[in-house]
Amino acid sequence: MCGIVGFTGSQKAAPLLLDGLKKLEYRGYDSAGIATLGEDGIHMEKAAGKIKNLDGKIQGGETLPGLSGVGHTRWATHGAPTDVNAHPHLSNDGKFALVHNGIVENYVALREELMAKGFQFKSETDTEVVVNLLELYYDGDMKDAVLKTVARLEGAYALGVLCREERGRVITARQAAPIILGVGKGENYFASDVTALVAHTKDVIYLDDGEIADLTPDGITIYDTSGKVLEKTVERVTWDVAAAEKGGYEHFMLKEIMEQPAALRSTIEPRIQNGEIVLDQFSLTDADLKKINKIMITACGSAFYAGSVGKYVIEELCRIPVEADLASELRYRNPLVDEHTLLVVVSQSGETADTIAAMKECKARGARVLAIVNVVGSTIARLADDVIYTWAGPEIAVATTKGYTTQVAVMDMLAVYMARRLGRLEDAVYHQMVEELLRLPELVQRSIEINPALQSLAEKYHSHNDIFFIGRNLDYAACLEGSLKLKEISYLHSEAYAAGELKHGTIALIERDRPVIALACCEVLLDKMLSNIQEVKARGAEVLAVVLEGEEKIVHEADDVILIPKTHPLLNSVAEVVPLQLFAYYMAKSNGCDIDKPKNLAKSVTVE
Ligand code: F6R
Repeated sequence: MCGIVGFTGSQKAAPLLLDGLKKLEYRGYDSAGIATLGEDGIHMEKAAGKIKNLDGKIQGGETLPGLSGVGHTRWATHGAPTDVNAHPHLSNDGKFALVHNGIVENYVALREELMAKGFQFKSETDTEVVVNLLELYYDGDMKDAVLKTVARLEGAYALGVLCREERGRVITARQAAPIILGVGKGENYFASDVTALVAHTKDVIYLDDGEIADLTPDGITIYDTSGKVLEKTVERVTWDVAAAEKGGYEHFMLKEIMEQPAALRSTIEPRIQNGEIVLDQFSLTDADLKKINKIMITACGSAFYAGSVGKYVIEELCRIPVEADLASELRYRNPLVDEHTLLVVVSQSGETADTIAAMKECKARGARVLAIVNVVGSTIARLADDVIYTWAGPEIAVATTKGYTTQVAVMDMLAVYMARRLGRLEDAVYHQMVEELLRLPELVQRSIEINPALQSLAEKYHSHNDIFFIGRNLDYAACLEGSLKLKEISYLHSEAYAAGELKHGTIALIERDRPVIALACCEVLLDKMLSNIQEVKARGAEVLAVVLEGEEKIVHEADDVILIPKTHPLLNSVAEVVPLQLFAYYMAKSNGCDIDKPKNLAKSVTVE
């Protein structure tokens, strides 16, 4: 979603800001802009569409003078993605330039108030209200104007402010939208995420909600909303620049698919010591754990599908009821949650607005919150009681791959770990499952190697417009993710169905040559799946079966086959999804889609 960058120092600001915006491109956007402060005032340029349009207009940043500035990539919420609606926005008197992420919920009332005072508005955005409030409240100190302005705002915002009267100073403020400060030598930065900062500095400060940071080349001062100075710790980022680059692959998505064995190794291996799972970050005592009578898992999109895997595995091993709820639904359904509920929150970015809201709602009702998060220092990580990080490294492609599989691996580990602590897992089974967890990276590698025909399968199927995924139990959870991957990057219509449910309506859509991808890796349900496959074949469907290596029964019924290496039946989900990711990738490639940045999507969905 929208991205913000800000800089002040002794180098020319615009090329640095442009580079930062390029690093944030992956978040999703539809226009971009930069404002800098030169000797003669504010210089600004913006452009609808890709950053290359802006780049062309400002010749790599050369045409915008000045040593400080702010930049923005906008993902349209209020008003179409046009040059006029793009950020930055200027105040009526031209003193302030502002970039803004989030949504100001009371902007209509504020706009009317400002119009009554004679302010005029050029764009359809809520942001123009904020920049004019800055003008209204400015009395010689931009920090005071920012404090007075944010006190008037309801909703979510991350702001980047530049003032014509105050050279060398940029201010940022955060409320429910991420901002990270980059601490440099003789220069300082801010950005929506660390990928825009790591090329310049690895020393960062995570701004919290209700905080305002005042940056000059020589220092950063952080205030709360009452203007009190706060002490914050500088933290060291472990990601490097190379991790956020393509490294010779055609797309980030392909690179990230191929990185999965390494990401899984980093996530799993340090947590298994002398044959035991060690989750230092899990602070519940045995007594606390025994009091938990319900586990709720909440997340959005793929992270929710990782949670759906978790539901099956945790419930099966721990014998505690588990509910998996979409965060956007959970928060509005008056959930039955109390201090005996363990809420497991799953998020790659740690910034998804719906997930944060659901988490806050359940926390307020007494739930204990355990978060599974990839981005260190993100909002969800900071709000949770306990955090288990997935060590997937930066995920740049909008469609998650290594983010998802590492989430599933942590779910699997958590299930085995809690079952052991609850005394519900026999020693031999526990040790076998720990061994198999350690093999997950190797199994993923194998699931890539034993399916060399995925690209040609995609060439066979890519022109079909409706593709069904069917499966039962854990296979059904994998269907949900496989189908979402296909939809979001290849724009093909696809549905995921619990195989037993098909005959209750959807089978009406099965006709001659309709591709049905049948996931059949749950060994105990193979006969049931076989019947479901025969049902669709009888109606003319073309079946691409996903089966465990060595499993012949289903293969005979299928038109095409994807093979999955065998492991413990509850741990199949990680390796099973990887060929589906590659299949979706090649389908999108055959259809000429923009794989890393699919249309209408944003990487980090920071609005509800
Ligand atoms: C799909 C995808 C999204 C995210 C969802 C949650 O490929 O990436 O469905 O999984 O937006 O995002 P996080 O995990 O950042 O909370």
